[in-house]
Amino acid sequence: MSDDLETKIRAAVHDPQNLGEMADADAIGTVGSVDCGDMLRMWVKFKEENGRRVIDRATFQTFGCQTAIAVASMATDLIRGKTADEALSLSGEDLSAPLGPLPPMKIHCAQLVEGALKDALTPTPKSEIENPKSPAPTLFDQLNAPKTVKIKLHTD
Ligand code: FES
Repeated sequence: MSDDLETKIRAAVHDPQNLGEMADADAIGTVGSVDCGDMLRMWVKFKEENGRRVIDRATFQTFGCQTAIAVASMATDLIRGKTADEALSLSGEDLSAPLGPLPPMKIHCAQLVEGALKDALTPTPKSEIENPKSPAPTLFDQLNAPKTVKIKLHTD
């Protein structure tokens, strides 16, 4: 890992932006990585702006590495003001762009953030609207939840 990348990650971890739960979120996405077992949850709040429904703010929690924290911190700033479709079009590489290129072993960390964002912004199937399954109240609860709780695993 380059010194520049390490410096940027250290700075982001030292002062993470948008860390924590959001009580009034409109959408929540949770994803686990099969590569490392880490988890990340993202909360998203929308607002109306010039006739468009755009992301007002986003927050995150993670049991993840420093790279995941840094990418989530930057991504939650990056998606502000974007529509759900615009945010959904962003790849892990786009979300981690402010850090610069990630080494191959850290690419899945950015994909963890992408996965949580996609999970939050992907429309809920009608079956889940009729039979809502609220996520565990905290990421820690989710980690310790019985195995029947569904967590999307990001595999690519
Ligand atoms: Fe697991 Fe980075 S090593 S998210």
